[in-house]
Amino acid sequence: LAKMVLDRAPDHMSKVYFGLSGSDANETNIKLVWYYNNIRGLPQKKKIISRWRGYHGSGLMTGSLTGLDLFHKKFDLPLSQVIHTEAPYYFRRDDLDLDEAGFVAHCVAELESLIAREGADTIAAFIGEPVLGTGGIVPPPAGYWAAIQEVLARHDILLIADEVVTGFGRLGSMFGSEHYGLKPDLITIAKGLTSAYAPLSGSIVSDKMWKVLEQGTDENGPIGHGWTYSAHPIGAAAGVANLKLIDALGLVDAAGEIGGYFNAAMRDAVGGHVNVGEVRGEGMICAVEFVKGREGRVFFDANDKVGPRVAAALLERGVIARAMPQGDILGFAPPFCLTRAEADEVVGKTAQAVKEVLG
Ligand SMILES: Cc1ncc(COP(=O)(O)O)c(C=O)c1O
Repeated sequence: LAKMVLDRAPDHMSKVYFGLSGSDANETNIKLVWYYNNIRGLPQKKKIISRWRGYHGSGLMTGSLTGLDLFHKKFDLPLSQVIHTEAPYYFRRDDLDLDEAGFVAHCVAELESLIAREGADTIAAFIGEPVLGTGGIVPPPAGYWAAIQEVLARHDILLIADEVVTGFGRLGSMFGSEHYGLKPDLITIAKGLTSAYAPLSGSIVSDKMWKVLEQGTDENGPIGHGWTYSAHPIGAAAGVANLKLIDALGLVDAAGEIGGYFNAAMRDAVGGHVNVGEVRGEGMICAVEFVKGREGRVFFDANDKVGPRVAAALLERGVIARAMPQGDILGFAPPFCLTRAEADEVVGKTAQAVKEVLG
């Protein structure tokens, strides 16, 4: 399975450490980052930058990396080593006058000022999902990743691509890193690896980091890290079967093609509704965001529960969509085997559910 994963991962990735959940894989990643900088003689360089609205898990460290209030409130999180920066969420930009390029420049300026404030010599890594998932299903604005990577490289800050959702085809490319031209030092994988039929996750480690980790073990002995169920044979068997099927059925291309069709059909069907602010997506992932008024982008009160009510109306029609947290956002992540006819059915029923709840 490790070879199958590495054959599909970007060329500069060289090893994979298997875990069980996306959360534990990200815990592993942060420990590897800290170990890496200790071996390099940079014990002060430890803080991790994450984005508001990022989702990276629910543990102590990973819940801290997650940039959603619900996951912090009353849990004494985030931990002090984690600092958050602007979400690349164009629809929710504060300054409505900014165009997309202006908003990317704003995100970059926010990142630069955070680094300047904290000191680059205290910051080890930046973690991000290629497309924000739980935080609202938000593809990045054009040019975002290239601009962010330039800043990280200049300050010797590692990049962790959290591909729990985007790994193995969701965007119509094998990895989101490939889709957006990322060159990560670590890649987190989980859901897509087994299509969630069995628990299995992984941390894919780049050649650059691996060399330092190896040097560390020469000096300090084996890396003291592991879970009882790491690389559990049941998960691994599901991973092998899943990756073979994805190839055999051409599901990565299908996710791109049918996903593109699905997104366009959703936009056509509900994009013009007075209470739909945005329909967005990439490959086989799609979101519909509701607004009280389009003019001036007025959001509904959270207590009106518009998102959950539309999701419930859809469930009554036999379609499972997710009311995403922190906003009235309906999220769709259909299986890769979705047909055009099924896409039409989901879209048609979404239009009915929106009409039922919002008129
Ligand atoms: C991008 C991302 N990272 C990490 C996780 C955490 O994975 P798990 O729930 O398996 O711990 C998730 C789960 O939704 C996720 O979407």
